[in-house]
Amino acid sequence: MNVLVVGAGGQIGTELVPHLQKIYGEDNIIAADLRPDVVERLSKGSRALTLDALDLKSYRETVKKYNIDRIYNLVALLSATGENNPLLAWNINMGALVNSLEIAKELNCSLFTPSSIGAFGKETPHKNTPQDTIMRPNTMYGVCKVSGELLSDYYFTRFGVDTRSVRFPGIISNGCLPGGGTTDYAVEVFYEIIRKGEYTCPIPENTYMDMLYMPDALNACTQLMDADPAKLIHRNSFNVTAMSFSPKELFAAITKRVPDAKFHYSIDPVKANISASWPDNMDDSSARGEWNWNPAWDMESMIDDMLSAIKAKQN
Ligand code: SER
Repeated sequence: MNVLVVGAGGQIGTELVPHLQKIYGEDNIIAADLRPDVVERLSKGSRALTLDALDLKSYRETVKKYNIDRIYNLVALLSATGENNPLLAWNINMGALVNSLEIAKELNCSLFTPSSIGAFGKETPHKNTPQDTIMRPNTMYGVCKVSGELLSDYYFTRFGVDTRSVRFPGIISNGCLPGGGTTDYAVEVFYEIIRKGEYTCPIPENTYMDMLYMPDALNACTQLMDADPAKLIHRNSFNVTAMSFSPKELFAAITKRVPDAKFHYSIDPVKANISASWPDNMDDSSARGEWNWNPAWDMESMIDDMLSAIKAKQN
């Protein structure tokens, strides 16, 4: 199995590449990113190359050259950045997906492209959000995600391309910071509390959003792609979640471990608006039933691990 990860230098790719190396062997994973400095970093632990996923010709040549069987397309601008430059978000997010789909069709690759809680919108039921429900997002990021889900299902039914995806919630990790997302606060808070002892949160204190700890997110990426296709009723895309909390709940749980920690709020209206339109908590029973999704980390165990990992990093 030869696997290509495009957009490999972001929050997910940075940890997905070593995860894939462990499962499929170090030599079988190629990490690609647009940014030469990031490729330099990636090349310390993996086979890495510079690639612009919007350049169809180079993308196709890379897939041919390395005999790629599976592509993880992680190229995307996140939700808050997308609102600052909606057309750029559309061009990047959809451009990378369309190229990935065409190449997967032509060269017979399976393809994973993450969708998101951002695919939902104000009219979606917010509690126990069903797998199949109203999807009318209010952000460009969400418009791209819903379009991407539809297009990926289209390539599967029309051309038989093996496309699969999950709707990721906020992903909490300590390898590489996310950037420009609405759920980023749940990562940033750990770095700030350890560095400065205080954190100013841009999200209103009672806003609930789903979250996953990175090890579970990585398992979702590989478990779904290795799942028996005969068992999949859905493809693009599965609700997956492991926990749902508000800033207030998260900060109270951090305070139990770091009693001196101080929390303030300075609400970012763009992020507040986006987070209010997303589910409070999703129903992920389809993922559990169709490919045995079963996350291991909850909020308490995630907090313990984040605090010790970031402390160790900063020492
Ligand atoms: N973490 C993403 C964001 O906040 C959601 O998919 O944009």
